[in-house]
Amino acid sequence: MSTVVQLATARRRVPRLALLGTGVVGTAFVGRYSRLRDQLDRLPEFTWLANSRSLQACSAGLADALELARQAPAQASALPPWAEAESLHAGDVVVDATASETVADWHAEWLSRGIHVVTANKLGNGGALQRSQAILRARHLGASHYGDSATVGAGLPLLRSLRALVAGGDRIHRVEGILSGSLAWLFNHYDGVRPFSGFVRQARDAGYTEPDPRDDLSGEDVRRKLLILARAAGIDLHAEQVQVESLVPASLASLSVTEFDARMEALDAPLAERFQQAEQAGAKLRFVGRFDSQGASVGLQALPESHPFCAGGGTDNRVAIYSDRYAEQPLVVQGPGAGAEVTAAALLDDVLNIVR
Ligand SMILES: NC(=O)c1ccc[n+]([C@@H]2O[C@H](COP(=O)([O-])OP(=O)(O)OC[C@H]3O[C@@H](n4cnc5c(N)ncnc54)[C@H](OP(=O)(O)O)[C@@H]3O)[C@@H](O)[C@H]2O)c1
Repeated sequence: MSTVVQLATARRRVPRLALLGTGVVGTAFVGRYSRLRDQLDRLPEFTWLANSRSLQACSAGLADALELARQAPAQASALPPWAEAESLHAGDVVVDATASETVADWHAEWLSRGIHVVTANKLGNGGALQRSQAILRARHLGASHYGDSATVGAGLPLLRSLRALVAGGDRIHRVEGILSGSLAWLFNHYDGVRPFSGFVRQARDAGYTEPDPRDDLSGEDVRRKLLILARAAGIDLHAEQVQVESLVPASLASLSVTEFDARMEALDAPLAERFQQAEQAGAKLRFVGRFDSQGASVGLQALPESHPFCAGGGTDNRVAIYSDRYAEQPLVVQGPGAGAEVTAAALLDDVLNIVR
């Protein structure tokens, strides 16, 4: 039987859902799925969920499976527990709610087998260009879908708008803005008086930051989002081509997460100085990412209070797209760009769009 016939035969089965990652986002995804299950047509049944320690079948109940996975002890095996799971079939959907390179490496493999991938993990399209290109090839090979709207703007219609413009023949000139909900929250709240580290702990506890807040503070998370946006705009940007200004002092960069937490106060003095300089100039600090045909950069900027990027509150992302069509006045997308609930909603939307 040819591959095309095999994939078509497999797709006649009822699609199933598998989830990787039972942390903040994975748990919110299960919660949303459970709340909406009776209300939404064609939501696939969960077959299993897994984290780095355990895989649980969901046939006996989703809530119990989640609890068992979350409570599972660390395991010694080098292979992740899901690597030997009951194999998924073409037409099934895998949701990646991890920040794992190992899982991101599997995206192309699943897609080439006709298994759809929905991801909050930015390392698929926002990591090495080679991996992003492999994902594109695998999508064509497996005639499968890649739902990544949760990776930038936590589901705001940003990637979707960019892709629609490109599909309509528009050329993207420049994209710039506030791309990190957690950094937006931090610089919306930081007052230059109370220590910056206290706000970082608050943002982490609210689920706004990455599992390791240094992924946000180093600019790495914004770099990944910029790469995803640039590639969606048809620009083959390499990670090294993005100039990144990190807010993490060298003394904190290579510590474990626990050690970093204990020594986070080292962030405070340099940020207080930047804040005072900005304040004296009547400016506000904003963490901005941008790319155009000349290059790409990520870093902290002191912007006049009247600047559009100083508008918005909370975890708002605010991103301007300049193109042939929007040459003078940009298309602007703004809204909450962090948090487990909006991210879980974006994941479920992508699942539904695929199975419908
Ligand atoms: N929080 C937000 O607002 C937000 C917004 C947009 C996107 N995201 C993205 O969503 C993803 C998850 O974030 P989170 O805040 O939920 O992180 P988290 O709470 O740290 O959870 C991460 C989960 O991934 C699991 N995991 C790690 N390696 C794995 C592997 N090899 N195989 C299977 N599972 C593995 C972990 O398992 P263990 O428990 O066994 O370690 C854990 O359950 C990240 O990529 C993040 O960038 C988050």
